[in-house]
Amino acid sequence: MNNSDMTFYDAIRKRGSYRQEFLAEAVPEEVLLRIMEAGCRAPSGYNFQTTSFLVVTNPDLLIKLADIAPSPATNTAPAMIIPLSSKKKSPKTGLSFEIEDYAAAVENILLAITAEGYAAVWMDGAVNLEDRRERINKLLHVPDDRYVRAIIPLGRPEKEVTQRKKKPLEERVKWLR
Ligand SMILES: Cc1cc2nc3c(=O)[nH]c(=O)nc-3n(C[C@H](O)[C@H](O)[C@H](O)COP(=O)(O)O)c2cc1C
Repeated sequence: MNNSDMTFYDAIRKRGSYRQEFLAEAVPEEVLLRIMEAGCRAPSGYNFQTTSFLVVTNPDLLIKLADIAPSPATNTAPAMIIPLSSKKKSPKTGLSFEIEDYAAAVENILLAITAEGYAAVWMDGAVNLEDRRERINKLLHVPDDRYVRAIIPLGRPEKEVTQRKKKPLEERVKWLR
């Protein structure tokens, strides 16, 4: 399938968490730009747009990030996206939505990556292990008011991308007709 022929629903079905090696092929800047635009267009509570991003393609930084969070994907990724959240409370209601905002942005990014013919994995848990967040903060000079949420290594997959099996719709969706 030509990537430009991929429909929205194809991308939903083809997206899968890819944890294997990537090919040694750079992700072109214009592709990264489209992916990041998809992320920035996600909805956010009060439209506060509390998520910002670091897009890492610098080879030295990629090696250092892989050293902090080693895996076949991070060790070979030609690019990594690091979503950062910032806390912003509504002065009216006291509500803040930085986690929801970040999650919506990441899903847009994963679907865009799939639609472009690339693969990725959302590594949130992996950032919370040991002293990894502190090391990433230091390496990437993350400002104090930003919180590193995840690492998303991406690239052209060397192996097959599969989405994990989902429960049947009937188990999760109740119709109230
Ligand atoms: C909030 C969140 C955190 C995640 N953290 C990790 C992680 O640290 N490492 C990892 O390999 N996958 C991580 N994943 C990917 C999930 O394991 C994956 O989405 C799930 O197993 C379903 O597989 P699929 O993405 O192929 O549908 C995370 C996903 C989400 C939504």
